[in-house]
Amino acid sequence: MNPRYSRITGTGSYLPQRRVTNQNLTDDLAARGVATSDQWIVERTGIHARHFAAPEEKTSDLGLHAARQALAMAGRQAQEIDLIIFATSTPDMVFPSTACILQDKLGANGCPAFDVQAVCSGFVYALTVADAMIRSGSARRALVVGAEIFSRILDFNDRTTCVLFGDGAGAVVLEASDEPGILASELHADGKYVDILCVPGGVAGGEVVGNPLLQMDGQAVFKLAVGVLEKTARATLDKAGLQDADIDWLIPHQANIRIMQGTAKKLKLPLDKLVVTVDQHGNTSAASIPLALDNAVRAGQVQKGQHVLLEGVGGGFTWGAVLLKM
Ligand code: UT7
Repeated sequence: MNPRYSRITGTGSYLPQRRVTNQNLTDDLAARGVATSDQWIVERTGIHARHFAAPEEKTSDLGLHAARQALAMAGRQAQEIDLIIFATSTPDMVFPSTACILQDKLGANGCPAFDVQAVCSGFVYALTVADAMIRSGSARRALVVGAEIFSRILDFNDRTTCVLFGDGAGAVVLEASDEPGILASELHADGKYVDILCVPGGVAGGEVVGNPLLQMDGQAVFKLAVGVLEKTARATLDKAGLQDADIDWLIPHQANIRIMQGTAKKLKLPLDKLVVTVDQHGNTSAASIPLALDNAVRAGQVQKGQHVLLEGVGGGFTWGAVLLKM
């Protein structure tokens, strides 16, 4: 008989060593003639610092550190994993997938491994797919990773985007269980908004074609994000038969403190139920939710038996939520 649920049994995360404060970034950008300030970044986004990967680090390396931590917490060996899903928009290579590269680094060869590309909603998408595969009996122990090196796709001459993003990784081990774990999820996309947040370049004929750097209409993304996050949270709660007040922790995609606090207020959640890491990590795209989850677990905030709502939103336009019992 197929398991009724999948449950998170371990979490992990990793931040590259180099921490870049707003002041560090402001000084570096000033040398290029690009004007910004700690005050602007803090007031508009809540970000104080972010981490940037070292030149030799790859997205799979960041994911590897996070995966090892998650496996250790779950008490599992890499060889016991029978599914790897890696959410990223900054893969090591065009192909093969970063999931395959990670699989080899872990020594977990043989199990299915693939990437999910849903930008900042990537982890919520990947977790939903892993949950479905476990409940259908196709896998019993999945490793789900979100990792990014956005510093390599930023245009450091564009102050409207380069101050927002950082690098990092988060991971969970998700296992078949008869105890409640993932209770409900919702995934959405609307491709008519491709242009408001994209990296429009590609590779053809051995050359980069088009602009390979991130571009964003921040205000358009802001408005869409605010609109969908409350609706998706409510739809996910409805599916699980729960109310706003049943949420112990809200872990939204960490892009902008104003969006996150606005969502918490709409759900009538006190702000101390909101997990915030954007201040120290910036926006790490697909890594932001598992990074924040692992931080909250290791800080003793998120505890076994509590209801946690994860919410992603970003390029595509994509959005979604996963409601789970830890
Ligand atoms: O990860 C996917 C999800 N992404 C998001 O959720 C991002 C959503 N968007 C946002 O978070 C916000 O729209 C931003 C943080 C990107 C921008 O904040 P905003 O309050 O919407 O600012 P704005 O774009 O309206 O710009 C206000 C002013 C402009 O100057 P003027 O036209 O008023 O003179 C900008 O040129 O701030 C200026 N500005 C800056 N000034 C100093 C833009 N970037 C900077 C900067 N430093 N880095």
